[in-house]
Amino acid sequence: MSLDNAYELLENSVVYYRGEPVGTAAAVDPSPVAANYHDCFVRDFVSAALVFLIDGKHDIVRNFLLTVMTLRGQQPVVKGHKRSMGLMPASFRVYESNGGEEITADFGERAIGRVVPADSAMWWLLLLRAYVIATDDWDFVYSAEVQQCIDQILELYLRETFESAPTLLVPDGAFMIDRRMGVYGHPLEIQALYYGMLITAEELLAHSGGREAILANLRIRIEGLRDYVRLHYWLDRHRLNEIHRFKGEEIGLEVTNVLNVYPESIPDWLDGWLDERSGYLVGNQGPGRVDFRFFAQGNLLAILFGLASPHEAQGIMNLFERRWGDLIGEMPVKIVYPASSGKEWMHMTGSDPKNVAWSYHNGGNWPVLIWPFVGAALRTGRFEAAERAVTVLGDRVRADNWPEYYDGRRGSLIGRRANFFQTWTASGLLLAHGILENAEARRLFERFTFVA
Ligand code: GLC
Repeated sequence: MSLDNAYELLENSVVYYRGEPVGTAAAVDPSPVAANYHDCFVRDFVSAALVFLIDGKHDIVRNFLLTVMTLRGQQPVVKGHKRSMGLMPASFRVYESNGGEEITADFGERAIGRVVPADSAMWWLLLLRAYVIATDDWDFVYSAEVQQCIDQILELYLRETFESAPTLLVPDGAFMIDRRMGVYGHPLEIQALYYGMLITAEELLAHSGGREAILANLRIRIEGLRDYVRLHYWLDRHRLNEIHRFKGEEIGLEVTNVLNVYPESIPDWLDGWLDERSGYLVGNQGPGRVDFRFFAQGNLLAILFGLASPHEAQGIMNLFERRWGDLIGEMPVKIVYPASSGKEWMHMTGSDPKNVAWSYHNGGNWPVLIWPFVGAALRTGRFEAAERAVTVLGDRVRADNWPEYYDGRRGSLIGRRANFFQTWTASGLLLAHGILENAEARRLFERFTFVA
C-alpha cells in the first residue's frame, strides 16, 4: 500500500509559528465541521510526533514540547483561586496579530461543554520520554524549565483530593472522549495514561539522580494503582461469576465486595460474551458502579504500558480475536462496545445527537486507534492480527479521504459528521506501519528499563 498520500496529509497539517514547525492541525479539511479543528490538539499530535521521531524529524517535536510547556497553567480560574501550573491545554492555535504571529491556548474554555483536558500533561510527559529516547537529548530534560515543569505536573497529579483509591478522579469528557458520555469518575483510559505518566516520571527522575522523596512517593502510587486496577477493573469469566454472586452492603474492613457492586447491574449483553480465554479491563469503577463497557484505548494503552499483567494482556487480545466483528468490524478500531441507546443514551449523553448509538464516541470506529492496536498486538505476539487490522484499514481510509471516524455496528459507514483529511487518521496509519516494519520503534512508547 502506498503511504505517500498519508505523508502528504501530514505535511500539509504542519502548523508553523514564526517560521518554525510547532505541531499539526487536527484536520486539513477545507470545510471542517468545527471551528477548532485548525487547532493543534495535544493528544492528536502524539501519533504524528511519534512518526516524526521515527523519521528523524526531531525539531518539530522539541518545538511542540517547548510550546505546550510555555502555555501551561494559563487556564482561567475562579477569582481569587491559585492556578495549577501543571495543567496543560487541550489545544493551541497560531493567529495573526498586528502583522505578527501569536499563540493562544484552549484549556477547554472554548470547547464544547467546557471540558477539562486531564490527559494533556500526561501525553506531554509520555512524549518527552519518546523524544529523549529518539534523540538522547538529556540536556533538554535536565534544563531548569523542564525539571520545574515535571515537578509542577507531579504536584497537580499526585495532589490529595477526595480520593479513597490510588486511581485518578476526573470530570466527564476529560480525555479523547471529550463529551458527556458517562466517563466521569475513574475512566480506564485516564488510569492507563496516569500509569504511563507515573512510570515515565519515575524513569526520567531516576535517570537524573536525587529527588529520593518524590521517587519514593511515585513508586508507592505506581504499585498501588497497578494492584488496584488489576483487582477492580479486570473482568473475566471467573470474576464475572464472583460478581454475579456478590453480597451487597457489607460493612467493615474485611469485605469481599469492597465497592458494593450489586449483581443486578451486570448487563445482559455480557452473558456469553467472554469465553474461558478472554477478559478485559472494565471502563470505570466507583461505589456501586461498574461501567462494563469495553473501551479500546484504555485496554490497549494498559497493554502498552504494562498496567495489564502479561496474562491479562493475552486475555484482552484473545477477546479482540474472538469478538473481531464487534471490536474491529470493517474499520479498526471501535472506540467503545456496546453503544448506549434509548433512555440510557438520553441520560448518559444528555441526548447528544452526535453521540447517538453506534456513532462518534458512542460506538463509532476510529482509525487512529490502529496504532495502539498494532502496538498491543505486537507486544503480545499477535503479528497476524496486527497485519490483518492494518490491511482492513488500508486503502479504505485513503479512498474515503481520511475520515475522522466511522458509524455503524461494524463501522461500515463514514461518520455522519466526520471531518475529512483528519490528521491523526493518517498519522495513526503511518505509525502502525512504522512499528510493524521496525519493532525497535516501539521503544518510543512501550515501557522499558533505562540502562544508565
Ligand atoms: C474530537 C475528539 C478529540 C480530538 C478532537 C480533535 O473532539 O473527541 O479526542 O482531540 O476531536 O481531533
